[in-house]
Amino acid sequence: MTNRLRRWALPAVASATVLLAGCARNAPQDIFQPEGDNARKIDDLQRIPFYLAGAVGVIVLVLTIFVVWKFKDRGQPIPHQGHGKAIVEIGSIAFSGILLLFCGVVSVKGIWQQAKTNDCKMTVNVTGQQWWWEYSYPAQAGIDTPIVTSGQLVIPAGQCVMLRITSRDVIHSFWIPKLNGKKDAVPGRVHLLRMEADHPGFYTGQCTEFCGLSHANMKMDLISLNDADFATWVGMQHAKAAAIADTESAAGRGETVFKSQCVRCHQINGLEDNDGNPLIAKADDNLVAGAAPNLTHFMSRTTFAGATYSLTNETCREDLINTPPDTFGAKYLAGVAEGCLNVIELKEWLRNAPAKKPMYPEVNDDGKGRGMPAFGEVLSEKQIDDLVEYLRTLK
Ligand code: CUA
Repeated sequence: MTNRLRRWALPAVASATVLLAGCARNAPQDIFQPEGDNARKIDDLQRIPFYLAGAVGVIVLVLTIFVVWKFKDRGQPIPHQGHGKAIVEIGSIAFSGILLLFCGVVSVKGIWQQAKTNDCKMTVNVTGQQWWWEYSYPAQAGIDTPIVTSGQLVIPAGQCVMLRITSRDVIHSFWIPKLNGKKDAVPGRVHLLRMEADHPGFYTGQCTEFCGLSHANMKMDLISLNDADFATWVGMQHAKAAAIADTESAAGRGETVFKSQCVRCHQINGLEDNDGNPLIAKADDNLVAGAAPNLTHFMSRTTFAGATYSLTNETCREDLINTPPDTFGAKYLAGVAEGCLNVIELKEWLRNAPAKKPMYPEVNDDGKGRGMPAFGEVLSEKQIDDLVEYLRTLK
């Protein structure tokens, strides 16, 4: 290989790799493939300066090459040294000014569109916490009693949903790239973010503000459903968990384990103690931020461990993601299908959660931690098996 070839080989390969990486289709978090009104407006907006700046860049490059070629030193006498042409100077400034003004006007118009709050039919409260997201649906048209869920946000397709975003501890940032830009979740503040998906489907996102040890694991799934499927989902979320009739079955024994250990932090609506009184999780007493995911409809979800892990195995997850919009809702509402549960990782999580996701499970002076402790030290393997059987019943 000649020296010249060697000098150019590495930069050429590196540039080609970067350029080709941009060609990846089917990228789940690609901002250049918007699938909702808000993301599309942002995409339209970035294209205007991109094309304008691109055109200006090409014109400047061509003129530069032309001047360098035309006035190359060929031994000709030095040309007349003038100050320049006023018309060209003023014209260039005016032309740039008009371009910038145009970009400014469309940008401000876009900002106003994104700030609109009066055309969204639904509201969902989104709360960030180290390291998961809680989604709570206040009572409103179509939802007569509030719903609390986590791991995945479910919205009706084809309409604007207003997210009211906040945090219980540090600053997080909510981002579903195909549906809208980012919005910070700041303790003590509520930030509004419009969310709209064109059609039923599966979207993913992740926390985009560094928020501590498991920032990189703070993901989210978003599910959009058509109106009828969304109404079905709401109905399912309103159902309370039924007590396991056979207390000697694996699920029954698992329920007992849940009542003795897990309910300290995790709420299951409908769960009762032996006297028939509702069991209320006391996450406040055990966790710094004061909340843990409500697990009432655990098996209706797509993730666990704060959306760090898929609740189903890879094949079933891919299968759901690739389901076309018209049959997506039915598939999603069927929940975790037989043979789909990610049993291995779920058990690993129950056994030793801190090993599966960096957290601060050690309790502070007030006896509060920031994550799930390792239950392998407290529970036997059989109890963990039973617990999984109980969790399977939480549809
Ligand atoms: Cu939450 Cu980063």
